[in-house]
Amino acid sequence: MIKNTFYVTTPIYYVTAKPHLGSLYSTLLADIAARWNKLMGKETFFLTGTDEHGQKVAAAAQKAGKSPQEFVDSFIPAYKDTWHKYELDYTEFIRTTDSHHVQAVQQWIKKLIISGDIYKGEYSGFYCTHCETFVTGSDHPSINSGRTGEKHTGEEQIKPVAYPACPSCGRETHALAEQTYFFRLSKYQDRLLQFYADNPDFITPKERVHEVINFVKSGLTDLSISRTTITWGIPFPGDPNHVTYVWADALNNYITAIGYGDPDKQELFNRWWPADVHVLGKDIVRFHAIYWPAFLMASNLALPKKLLVHGWITVGDQKMSKSLGNVVDPIALYEKYGAEPVRYYLMRKMAISHDSSFSIEDLEQTITADLANDLGNLLNRLTTLAQKHNLPTVTAPTTWSPAACDLRDSCSTMLAEVKNHMDDYLYHRALARIWHYIHATNTFFHAHEPWKLANTDPVAFAEIISATCHSLQAIAIMLLPIMPTKMHQLLESIGALDATHHTQTIVKNLEDNVWRQTFMLKKIDPLFEKFDPSIHFSGNPKNTQDDRANSSTHSTPVRPEFIEGDKSYITIDDFVKIELVVGTITHCEPAPNSTKLLVLNVDFGPLGTRTILSGIAQWYAPQDLITKQGIFVLNLKPRKMAGLESQGMMLSAKTEDGNLKMATVASPVPNGIRLS
Ligand code: MSP
Repeated sequence: MIKNTFYVTTPIYYVTAKPHLGSLYSTLLADIAARWNKLMGKETFFLTGTDEHGQKVAAAAQKAGKSPQEFVDSFIPAYKDTWHKYELDYTEFIRTTDSHHVQAVQQWIKKLIISGDIYKGEYSGFYCTHCETFVTGSDHPSINSGRTGEKHTGEEQIKPVAYPACPSCGRETHALAEQTYFFRLSKYQDRLLQFYADNPDFITPKERVHEVINFVKSGLTDLSISRTTITWGIPFPGDPNHVTYVWADALNNYITAIGYGDPDKQELFNRWWPADVHVLGKDIVRFHAIYWPAFLMASNLALPKKLLVHGWITVGDQKMSKSLGNVVDPIALYEKYGAEPVRYYLMRKMAISHDSSFSIEDLEQTITADLANDLGNLLNRLTTLAQKHNLPTVTAPTTWSPAACDLRDSCSTMLAEVKNHMDDYLYHRALARIWHYIHATNTFFHAHEPWKLANTDPVAFAEIISATCHSLQAIAIMLLPIMPTKMHQLLESIGALDATHHTQTIVKNLEDNVWRQTFMLKKIDPLFEKFDPSIHFSGNPKNTQDDRANSSTHSTPVRPEFIEGDKSYITIDDFVKIELVVGTITHCEPAPNSTKLLVLNVDFGPLGTRTILSGIAQWYAPQDLITKQGIFVLNLKPRKMAGLESQGMMLSAKTEDGNLKMATVASPVPNGIRLS
């Protein structure tokens, strides 16, 4: 029996920060896939969520002074709020700390221990904390031990080599040796290769398949799936010293969210599994194309039908990332441009198969040209004209003129082509094709100069209005997955809102050249705002029939107000809250019971004398500091260190090699002077 269901997932996001434009992009692709399939009459399940375990999260939580659970909880509202603002209509939001997920993963592990696919051993290798993964020998030929999952006798030691950089993120790795549970990945090498051969469409775009096949062919070793060095993770069943390695935890979300492991949800699970498509970025292909299918094979479960792999959004030539400080904040974009113009821009200009550069100038230019001018103006002119000539209801003629027939024919061709692109997840191509048709409709409308016909030839006038309405109806229906609210407004203004209730029939009719009988026109506020190109934009980087994403390069692709980091600027009011004062160290001695701390007596002139502890014993002897002037924060809450109360903090600079140098003034000033 052919299933009339569609199950789409996003990657689950690490919750060390709020969502950014890259996370929005992944989630938007899934939302559009779900909306498109719903439009085509399928029942859909759209899953997204958060990946909350692992060392990276634990470390970030510690830095923030929170428990890991408090820390991850604090980001969830920002995710849900962003998704709601962008109309991402998910069915379920899974968190890997959800108890049903935790229990189901534990059950999964137990099952695989019994079947022999999970076993205990010892591991050593180079680990990237950022990506939560071991760097393998094939990533770095310099590593001759430490292939993923390599077992050790315990006799060999990790040699003190320079730690290799992680191939995914470029950060430095560190050596790790520990007892671990292995997943028997090596056993699935041949079956995986067979699977790729039998399912050439498993990965979209196809080019990504080669890297996966090459990796598998180079030889799979068993995969370490537990850690004893961290505690923030799913406890390994029956061995409390171990927690589950994040990828064995995270990937399973795709099945636990739909009831895997819960006997009461067997039916639900059978209804949705296997997933029709997992959406993911190119950085996590290996986990989804190798580990995940192997986990499923070991669990005797069907494999997902497709991986939709997208490129990265870049800013200028750089990947957008927190560490580069160029992360675009989706909420700032939403506030200025609204959700749907941004949805359109991301789908039109970010070609799935490539990395695509994001720029505000291009965004504004695209909204103005495509949405406000091409589409919005057409609707506006049509409804203004109908209103002016008192034609609220327009009826289709009994016979159409050759020009209108041409428009109708090209509409049905457009529909067929757009359907194919949408089914193939090539949204940028679908949109380019729709815009080609919008241009044709504009040409039809303007070439016939209906404003001149209104008084001279009312039949011809009505035909132009009617044919343009037909076009707009088809356009709006095809654009519903991309801009649902705006397209509802458009359909309402031509009296065709009912079309949204039976889209399949409407699309079928349009394909068969059966056009609607009547439209009722109502003028509405302009659908889209225009942005003045002279302010921020120069040149013409737009492609209209583009296959690739925009290729414009701008010197300032994203203005600071849209960059997340810039919002962390403090104001002068914040600055003046900090009392930075110059004082002279009059006495200094090592703190009792501490090798790191020195106890300073500091003279702040009219502000008195204070006792301040400073962790600089490693770099300064007490006599080096006496009589020196330093800079101190005086309104920091006093705190106890080595049993003594510190009544302020001395400022110092940490050099790259970890040395501390106390901060001072260039020439002596009176004690108690405040810095400003
Ligand atoms: N937690 C894992 C996924 C586990 S799925 C079982 C993870 N999380 S992530 O938050 O780092 O990344 C999630 C997704 O966001 C990835 O698909 C990644 O490619 C995508 N993006 C992160 N930055 C991006 C851009 N700059 N551009 C486009 N998408 C990028 O990996």
